[in-house]
Amino acid sequence: MSQMTAKAIRITQFGGPENMELVELPLGEPGPGEIRIRHKAVGLNFIDVYQRTGLYQLPLPLNLGMEASGIVEAVGEGVTHLKVGDRAAYASQPPGSYSQARVMPARSVCKLPDDISFETGAAMMLQGMTVNYLLRRTLPQGGLQAGDHVLFHAAAGGVGLIACQWAKALGLQLIGTAGSDEKCALAKAHGAAHVINYAKEDFVARVKEITGGQGVKVVYDSVGADTFMKSLDCLRPFGLIANFGNASGKVPPFDINVLAGKGSLYATRPTLFTHLASREASQTMADELFAMVSSGKVSIKIDQQFALADVAAAHRDLEARKTTGCTILIP
Ligand SMILES: NC(=O)c1ccc[n+]([C@@H]2O[C@H](COP(=O)([O-])OP(=O)(O)OC[C@H]3O[C@@H](n4cnc5c(N)ncnc54)[C@H](OP(=O)(O)O)[C@@H]3O)[C@@H](O)[C@H]2O)c1
Repeated sequence: MSQMTAKAIRITQFGGPENMELVELPLGEPGPGEIRIRHKAVGLNFIDVYQRTGLYQLPLPLNLGMEASGIVEAVGEGVTHLKVGDRAAYASQPPGSYSQARVMPARSVCKLPDDISFETGAAMMLQGMTVNYLLRRTLPQGGLQAGDHVLFHAAAGGVGLIACQWAKALGLQLIGTAGSDEKCALAKAHGAAHVINYAKEDFVARVKEITGGQGVKVVYDSVGADTFMKSLDCLRPFGLIANFGNASGKVPPFDINVLAGKGSLYATRPTLFTHLASREASQTMADELFAMVSSGKVSIKIDQQFALADVAAAHRDLEARKTTGCTILIP
């Protein structure tokens, strides 16, 4: 019998989008705890850029991509929550979702509810579960209550537009930043209570103005280097900064005493994958997202779609801040 293969996107060295190659890879049978899934749609995420450039160092050669949806094609020993023919979606390590099909750990792969399309499933798993753990599990002392202000950077992006809607559903006053007036309007239309164009406005001053001089309880900062220190100045005493990304570069090392001077602040650097460490945790995180999407409280806005073979163009647009909402690749 001839060996099964699948097309996939791979890098053999870190660098620019041109390093991504479409290759044909062998496709085996799933081992214990694994499945084989045939992808219908693949999600594009900023973490894919960090892995491509080597900002996050993983062994080479590296098959890229952390998120997809598709149909379960084979099930390994010990996997009980999925069967052949199931519609499924995931955000999961290790990378390798930029492909027609793959063998992978089953732990974080979840059955996709019938009312959620493959496109939406691929677009929402990683960014939607990220918003879930940020707004509901990455909290300041005493938690967040309806009416509380939070600052959320890059509010018109993939994570951002989901956060605007989920925050509104929780009754939070989300102050969203974005890099153009059009992006600000988009964040506002998705539930941000206030928006700041940080390309031309001083966001610290505007946050102080909006909160009557008090500052916010939490800043969710995925922009990193460009915003981190200023984000600290937006917090009220005992406030929390959650730096969860590096779109503008990693936050440089800083003196922890700064947190004392600015009001006994808390700082955390969370990642989704700690929240997906077990099968049970993964399923809970996904079920909570499915409920938000199925109820219509969160709608997934797919503003860009590319063929898998055109992934370099997708990366270029994402890095050039040309995208809004979610982006998917069709294998
Ligand atoms: N830790 C985690 O668990 C986790 C999980 C998911 C995502 N993330 C992070 O969350 C962020 C958003 O992810 P996403 O996939 O939804 O991407 P995205 O927000 O759709 O795209 C990134 C956005 O960041 C803003 N940005 C600011 N400075 C930038 C720069 N120098 N270069 C490029 N973009 C810049 C841009 O919006 P403006 O033009 O409006 O500034 C851009 O559109 C990323 O930093 C990602 O790494 C973290």
